[in-house]
Order: sequence, then C-alpha cells, then structure tokens
Amino acid sequence: MGIAMFFKSKKSELPDASQMPQIVADSGIQHIAFIMDGNGRWARERGLPREAGHGVGVKAFKKAVTLCRDWGIKTVTTYAFSTENWKRPPQEVKEIMRLLDVYIKEAEDDNDKNRIRYIFLGDKERLGEELRAKCLYLEDLTKDNTLILNIALNYGGRDELVRAVNSLIAEGKTEICEEDISSRLYTCESPDPDLIVRTGGEVRLSNFLLWQSQYSELYFTDCLWPDFDESELIASIVEFSKRKRRYGGV
Ligand code: IPE
Ligand code: IPE
Ligand code: MG
Repeated sequence: MGIAMFFKSKKSELPDASQMPQIVADSGIQHIAFIMDGNGRWARERGLPREAGHGVGVKAFKKAVTLCRDWGIKTVTTYAFSTENWKRPPQEVKEIMRLLDVYIKEAEDDNDKNRIRYIFLGDKERLGEELRAKCLYLEDLTKDNTLILNIALNYGGRDELVRAVNSLIAEGKTEICEEDISSRLYTCESPDPDLIVRTGGEVRLSNFLLWQSQYSELYFTDCLWPDFDESELIASIVEFSKRKRRYGGV
C-alpha cells in the first residue's frame, strides 16, 4: 500500500452515492480526467494475457463515465492510448484498437439515450483510415450534445504543444500569448481538468495534458484500472473536495 493511501478515507467512511451530486456541486468540479493504468498487471495477476485487462478496463471506464455524468460532472477526459504506447507488442495494440472500434459503434448506437459529445484528443492520422473515419463520424454525430467526453487516443502532451505552436507559426504569428496556445490544443473545447486521477500506482503524468494540468489536483491510487469502481471514484472526488486550491495565492 502506497503512503498516499494513508491520507485517504477508509471505504466505510465514504459518503453514499446518493450524496455525490451535492458533493460534486459543492466541490466545483467541472472536469475530471483519468489516466487508466494497470490493465496489464490486473490481467497478469489472474494468469490472463494483458489484452484481457483492456477488455475489463473498458467496462470500468463506461461505468465511471456514467457515474460522473449522473453526478453532474460536465467534462470527462480519459487517456486511452498514448503516442508512446505504439512501442507495445503488435497484438496488444491491435486489441486496444479493436476495443475502441467496438466502443465507438456502441457510442453511436446509444447516442439517442446518452447526451455525450465525443471528442478524440490526439493525432488521428496514425490510426489508419478506417478508425480515423469512425472517430470523425462519432465526433460529428454527437457535436450538439453538451456533456463532453474527451478520449485521448494517440495522444501526447508534447506532440500537442508542438502542433499548437506550429499551427500558430503557419498563421504567421510572431508573438503568442497563453490563450493562443490553449486555443490550438486538442482540448480547446474543455476547461482545464480540476482533478486528474491516475490508477495503477505509478506517480507520474506520462505525457498527459502537460499544459492543461497547470493547477489540476492530482490523485494517485494503487487500485488497478479494471478494479476502479464506484467507491474508488467516490474516494477520489471526496479527496478533491477537501483540497485547498490556492493558485499561487494565500
Ligand atoms: C493502461 O494499462 C492502458 C493503456 C496504456 C492502454 P496498462 O496496459 O499500461 O497496464 P499496466 O500498467 O501494464 O499494468
Ligand atoms: C499511460 O500509461 C498511458 C495510458 C493510460 C493510455 P502507461 O502504462 O503507458 O504509462 P507508463 O509507461 O507507465 O509511464
Ligand atoms: Mg501502464
């Protein structure tokens, strides 16, 4: 158990899910982001191939998104695949892309009953023509929905910043301000994340939302992503609600 766990609420002390809409509203949280880590280890612990962990991870992800939406969080961002994850064995990459394909199809089918606007963060070129077209179609289909779900796919924070600066150069700008950069990022439709949750026990950002995380509250848990359930989500939001955000002030 990591030292961070020492400071966290015990499960029995956590509020009930029915209290969460009020806690969310009082905390002021508008945007929660997840670094969904630990799928591979979850599978290995069970003697399963790493890919099996990703499949269960998608289920945990869907549950977390539904709860965030039900509790009133307007923007959710999730790290599905980084620019560095191409280093993984081809069969694992292939399975992650297949799961995404299935997920996109289901999102299309559910568009009438959920009010989610899907935005993919990252360079879609490397995804291949078919998956790229599906991402673009889902973004267009859901563009009038108000609750944003950003899915970081082939996303890298440094790559995003370099692209933003290059697009400003291409426009002929010779001097730029912070707003110029923010407006060229993949996340330009979203406020900066209030809370970034990373599962899987690693305490790092792994190239996620480098610019946007300036004043995000960071929450790390040893829980492996496939085990991230309602009580884990409650624990992370409750911890956020206790943080004092000073933004450099007093
Ligand atoms: C995170 O889980 C999911 C992706 C990066 C796609 P991992 O696959 O990194 O799981 P661990 O960290 O190896 O356990
Ligand atoms: C971060 O997890 C990326 C995603 C969750 C998609 P990684 O497993 O790739 O991160 P590192 O390699 O441990 O930093
Ligand atoms: Mg990992």
